Amino acid sequence: MAKAIGRKLRCGVIGLGMGRGHIQGYQSHPACELVAVADMDEGRLAQAKAEFKVPHAYTDALEMVKQAELDVVSVATPNKFHAPLTIAALKAGCHVLCEKPMAMTLAEALAMQRTAVACRKKLGINFSYRFSAMSFALKQQVDAGLIGKIYFGRTVWHRRRGMPGFGGWFGNKELAGGGPLIDLGVHRIDLALWLMGHPRPVSVSGSTYNIIAARKAREEKKHYSVEDLAAGIVKFDNGATLMVEASWALNNNENEHMVTSLYGEKGGLVQKNRNGTYDFTAEIYTEEGGNLYTKVLDQAVTQPPNAYHDFVDSILQDREPLAKAEDGIRVQMILDGLYRSAAEGREIRFK
Ligand SMILES: NC(=O)c1ccc[n+]([C@@H]2O[C@H](COP(=O)([O-])OP(=O)(O)OC[C@H]3O[C@@H](n4cnc5c(N)ncnc54)[C@H](O)[C@@H]3O)[C@@H](O)[C@H]2O)c1
Repeated sequence: MAKAIGRKLRCGVIGLGMGRGHIQGYQSHPACELVAVADMDEGRLAQAKAEFKVPHAYTDALEMVKQAELDVVSVATPNKFHAPLTIAALKAGCHVLCEKPMAMTLAEALAMQRTAVACRKKLGINFSYRFSAMSFALKQQVDAGLIGKIYFGRTVWHRRRGMPGFGGWFGNKELAGGGPLIDLGVHRIDLALWLMGHPRPVSVSGSTYNIIAARKAREEKKHYSVEDLAAGIVKFDNGATLMVEASWALNNNENEHMVTSLYGEKGGLVQKNRNGTYDFTAEIYTEEGGNLYTKVLDQAVTQPPNAYHDFVDSILQDREPLAKAEDGIRVQMILDGLYRSAAEGREIRFK
């Protein structure tokens, strides 16, 4: 039961693709009841209502937010609707867990955070790749000082061919805000920033390309108005540098390649996926007594919190969620800067 209000928290989910995971997250928390779902796709709405036995279903998300007397709302729609729906839900008195990317632009992300502060509600961002045993084990070692100050890194997610829902909203700049950088890159940037202790970006320089996806779009007569590859360099206020790469289509040797390598004064770490799967390995490199060691993480014993449960617990315990609005804003600064840098052909410096 929710300590603060003496009853279960009433939860609602908007957008029933990834939102189905949010439903399961809330339904498995003992202090929550999932009372409403919203999706403009009536088929998906009916399916979720029946499958998860949800009392109320809405085709209009704003109507749900106004009528369903909710404490918690998840926003899991195409990116364009993250900011307006989050702001509407916060203003209606709900805590909001918004999917990544936080928003289409930094300005939107800042407006979301300002609204959360003004309404005194929690705002969390679903940076789900932090919430794994491997990521937590590495974070533990960084926090224990094994790596020392991290001064250089590289964080990457490449797909050989993997434009999600080709021809749909993911490849439409109006609805998505960008391509693989805003979709996949956000996860790897967030993971790197979290492990690095969230230094503040001071400048970025980036390039975007649309070669392979553009060719396919012409051949298949599909809409595609975002990049298929983005790459860039980010410099931070503590002197550290991070290289960022993200693609949905690249003439690479692996179908799915994720790697985050961070190099510190005392050690280095690499978190990467195994053979194109979503199974990860973690290694740490150190020098001890003049000898160079490679430590391979065999088993991670610390179970990470479930992302949805962490958000609910942050409400019950009146603390910040693990992945908070400020973290989303740091990532969004980098996304905005890289896209602007690519468009204007120059380095972007942040004030
Ligand atoms: N954290 C993760 O690992 C992860 C994984 C996948 C997707 N996502 C994010 O989740 C979001 C949704 O992605 P998806 O893969 O589920 O997309 P999707 O297209 O499968 O689902 C989006 C749903 O939102 C509905 N919708 C669109 N506009 C709406 C509106 N205004 N009101 C109500 N419903 C609306 C659509 O009908 C659709 O059912 C994206 O922002 C994506 O980046 C995150």
